[in-house]
Order: sequence, then C-alpha cells, then structure tokens
Amino acid sequence: MTVSHHAHPLPEGVLPKAELHLHIEGTLEPELAFALAERNGIDLPYATPEELRSAYAFSDLQSFLNLYYQLTDVLRTEQDFTDLAEAYLVRAAAQGVRHAEIFFDPQAHTGRGVDLGTVVLGLSRALETSRERHGLSTGLILSFLRDLPAEDALKTLADAAPYLHLISAVGLDSAEVGHPPAKFAEVYAAAKEAGLRLVAHAGEEGPPAYIAEALDLLGVERIDHGIRCMEDPELVARLVAEQVPLTVCPFSNVRLRCVDRLEDHPLPAMLEAGLLVTVNSDDPSYFGGYVEDNYRGLRQALGLTDDQLRRLARNSFLASFVDDARRAELLAELDANQ
Ligand code: ADE
Ligand code: ZN
Repeated sequence: MTVSHHAHPLPEGVLPKAELHLHIEGTLEPELAFALAERNGIDLPYATPEELRSAYAFSDLQSFLNLYYQLTDVLRTEQDFTDLAEAYLVRAAAQGVRHAEIFFDPQAHTGRGVDLGTVVLGLSRALETSRERHGLSTGLILSFLRDLPAEDALKTLADAAPYLHLISAVGLDSAEVGHPPAKFAEVYAAAKEAGLRLVAHAGEEGPPAYIAEALDLLGVERIDHGIRCMEDPELVARLVAEQVPLTVCPFSNVRLRCVDRLEDHPLPAMLEAGLLVTVNSDDPSYFGGYVEDNYRGLRQALGLTDDQLRRLARNSFLASFVDDARRAELLAELDANQ
C-alpha cells in the first residue's frame, strides 16, 4: 500500500524537508536518558534530567563528545535503540522532516560490549515502519570513529556484513583535528565495493584541506559540515562547480564554538557563493533544537527569506540518497506547499 503525504499533514508554516546530518545518539533527551538508566539499573552521575541538561555547555567538539559518549552507556538493549529512534522520528515528523538519513556510531556501542546487531536491529525496528506511521522515509549511515585506528573501522565494516541491507552509507565522525580522511582510504574503498554510499565529516573543526582530501582520497558524495571551506576560495569554486552537497548544522556550530554567534554564521555567504547547502540538526538534544528550529533560527538571527529557506529545503531533497521516484514525490510536495 502506498501512503500519500496527505495522511501526514505538516504543521502550519513548516516546510517539508530532508534531514541528512543527524546522529541518533545525539537525539537522546535527558528525560529518556534517565528512563533508560532506570530500566537498565544504571546510576547516572546527575541527580535529575534538569541537572544533566545544565551540563550541556561546551567549549569545543571534544568537550561535547565526552558527554555524548558517556551517556551512550544507558543504551543496552534492542528495545533501547528502538525507543531512541522512535522518539526522534516523532520529533522529526513534527518538524516537517519527510526523509531522514540517520548516523549511528557502532564503535561507541561495540566498544562497551553491546553487539552491533543489537544496535542495527533495534534502530531498524523503529525505522522500518516510519514511512507508514510518520510519512517519513529513512536511511541509516554507519559512521566510523576517526579517532580510533583505521583497523577498527575495517573490523566494524566486516562485522556489519550481515546488516548491509539495512544500511545505505558510511560516514566518518568524532574528533576531527589530527585524524585526516587519508587514514580511512582503505575502509572507504571497501565500503564502496560493498555498494554503500559515502559521506564524511570534514571542515568542522578541521582545516579546509580535509574537505578536499575527503573528496579525492575517500570519494565521498557529500561533505558533513564543510563550513571551513569558506577559508579557501579555490575550494569553494570546486565545491560549487561539482555541486557537492554540504550538510551544515548551524546550532551545532555555535554550541561547539566553531562560530561565535548564529548572527555570524557563514551560511548566507555559502548560499550566495552557489554552494549546495543543506541545514540539519547534528545532535539536537545537545544543541538547543531540531531541524525546523535551525531553519527558524536562521530566519531570526540572519534574516533568511522564505525563498532562501525554500531553497534549503529543496537542496535537502536534491542531496538525499533516495531513488528518482521518491525524490520526485518529495520535490512535488515542496512545490505544492506555497
Ligand atoms: N559525533 C556526533 N556529533 C558530531 C560532530 N558534530 N562532529 C563530529 N563527530 C560527531
Ligand atoms: Zn555530525
């Protein structure tokens, strides 16, 4: 049975959009963290969800990652991963998300004794009925932790062999500086051979050279973040000429101090330059909002116009790893929403 988007009306004034840069572990809200901790008999070093939320003040990427990895400890069973994904899908649907490509960090779980199958099957159980229940199609992106050895990434890809039909792409995340894309050339070649699409975080905290390296040495089709391309005009010209999609995350960039204030974000200049920019939430529980909140923030802080916001939504569909029929359907819904 096909279910049209009419079964899932959008809230007034909210554009339909795709979310292409979202870490499922970064959607863990403090209340759910406490509920899962209790269910699994784990003591969190915070008295209440409010106290935990007040710890969400970061000085850089690493200070965030420390808390992000610490809290993954509450995720133990398949049901925990299903509940985590389901909570995200409900919030995403309310923010106009019609398609989501969702990162997960297998090594953050296998490294503490949780089986890869528990993670993938738990997440997939929520995702597989999302189209019918929320009008929201999905993909899963298996992301390697770049601050661990390349051999660990190769082992993770090998361990994922039984689940590749549930995974659409591989990505690269965690601490960027000092861990250049080149380190992962072999595992990206193997992922491509296995039929997976390729993306990588680059140019978030790391230098513009990492963006070119991800394109040239890993063969990625999208760059996650990529904001530091603006320091290199020749690189910008290349990204424009090749129309390489960039999955930009404005709230994240401010919270991790990559950008001082939202008012200073380079996104308007990136659009002006002709880059294929999309707007995404990254780790919305930690960074003050989900994807529509980011769109609204851009309007408020930077005066983005309706046309610019519509272009961002359009770009999100153009940059999605969906088939032609689904892309046409997504673009048609956007065009009909005037
Ligand atoms: N893992 C989760 N969020 C991340 C980000 N913004 N950069 C790198 N690794 C991440
Ligand atoms: Zn990210």
